[in-house]
Amino acid sequence: MTATTPAASRAAEILSRPIALNGLTVPNRIAMAPMTRMFSPGGVPGEDVLSYYARRAAAGVGLIVTEGTYVGHESAGSSDRVPRFHGEEQLAGWAKVADAVHAAGGTIVPQLWHIGMVRKQGEPPFADAPAVGPSGIRVDGTEGAGKAMTQRDLDDVIGAFAEAAAAAERIGFDGVELHGAHGYLLDQFLWAGTNRRTDAYGGDAVARTKFAAEIVAAVRETVSPDFPVIFRYSQWKQEAYRARLAQTPQELEAILAPLTAAGVDAFHASTRRYWLPEFDGSDLNLAGWTKKLTGRPTITVGSVGLDGDFLRAFAGEGAAVGSIDNLLERLERDEFDLVAVGRALLQDPQWAAKVLGNRFEELQPYDAAALKTLS
Ligand SMILES: Cc1cc2nc3c(=O)[nH]c(=O)nc-3n(C[C@H](O)[C@H](O)[C@H](O)COP(=O)(O)O)c2cc1C
Repeated sequence: MTATTPAASRAAEILSRPIALNGLTVPNRIAMAPMTRMFSPGGVPGEDVLSYYARRAAAGVGLIVTEGTYVGHESAGSSDRVPRFHGEEQLAGWAKVADAVHAAGGTIVPQLWHIGMVRKQGEPPFADAPAVGPSGIRVDGTEGAGKAMTQRDLDDVIGAFAEAAAAAERIGFDGVELHGAHGYLLDQFLWAGTNRRTDAYGGDAVARTKFAAEIVAAVRETVSPDFPVIFRYSQWKQEAYRARLAQTPQELEAILAPLTAAGVDAFHASTRRYWLPEFDGSDLNLAGWTKKLTGRPTITVGSVGLDGDFLRAFAGEGAAVGSIDNLLERLERDEFDLVAVGRALLQDPQWAAKVLGNRFEELQPYDAAALKTLS
C-alpha cells in the first residue's frame, strides 16, 4: 500500500489554484453545491444559516452556492421555510450571510429559484398561488395540474429574476447562480417532456431555451458587466432521473449557445456521478462537454467524496473511477474548473480543510442523519 495515490498527494496544489469567473476571483477550486435546507422560517435566513455557511467558508470552501432561494413572484415556491431572495427582512438576513462568508475568506452567490410545476400544495403565505409552467404539465407527465404561463406571467418572472440579481449585487453577493436544473421552472421550458408550447417559447431546442436565455439577458442587463452570472442545468430531473435534454453534443450545443450568447459567465453542469462520460466516444463528463462547447468555465458535481472508492483512494488503495485521483486529474487537465461538493460537505463542515490539509484519514462517510441539522 502506497502512502497516497499520485494526484491525491498533490490535492492541495491542484485545488488551491484561483479561478476567475468574469470579474470574480474564486480563491480555490472547491465549491459548495446548492442544498435546500428549509431552516429559514418566514423565508428569512437567520444566525444559524449564517454560521452554517461561514463555517464552511472558514474551512476553505472557495465558492458557496447557497441553497435555492425563491425569486419574488407568488408562484416561485411553496415552502415558508425556504429562504426568499426578496423582502426587506429576508434580504437583510442574506446581507449578513454574505458578510460573514466574506469575513471567513470565501465568496458566495445565491441560487435564484422558481419551482414552476413542482409545486403541489403551498404553505402560507403561498397557499393559494397556482402551479405554473410552460404547459401546465408536471415532470412526471401529469397534465392539467397547473397553469400554462401567459406572456404576462413570463415577463413577470423574468422581471423577478432580474430584480433578485440586482438585489444580490446591492447587498454584497459576488454573483448569482440561476437554477435551470432538476426539473424546476427553467428546466421545464428546456425539456420537451414538459414544454409543449406552440408559441416562440416552444418547439425545437433553441425555442425551448428562449425563456431561460431571456432571463439571463435580463439579469445581465441589470447587474454590472463584471458581475458573474452562473447557469446551473442538468440532464436529469427530480421524478425523471433518466430524462435527458440532449442525446448528442450537437443537441447540447443548441441549448448552450443561446445561453452563452445571452451572457452566462460560467455553467454548473449538474450530474449525479461526475466520473460518468456524458456521450459515447469520449470520457468527457457533462461539465467537460459544456466547457468544450461554450468556452466558459464550468463547475462539476456529483458524488464527490461519497463513493467508498473515494475514501479508499485517499487512504492510498489505488485510483478507482470515483476516486479523488480521477477527479483531480480531470481538474488538472482543465476538463472543468471547479468541483462542487454537496452531501460530503453537508456532513462535514471541515471537509475542505481536511482535503486541503492532506488529512484524508479524517474524512467522514456521509450519513443521511446530517440532513436533519444545520451543523
Ligand atoms: C439536501 C439536498 C438539497 C438540495 N437542494 C438543491 C437545490 O436547492 N438546488 C440545486 O440546484 N440542487 C440541490 N441539490 C443537489 C445538489 O446541489 C447536488 O447537485 C447533489 O447533491 C449531488 O452532489 P453530491 O453528490 O456532492 O451531494 C440538493 C441536494 C441535497 C442532498
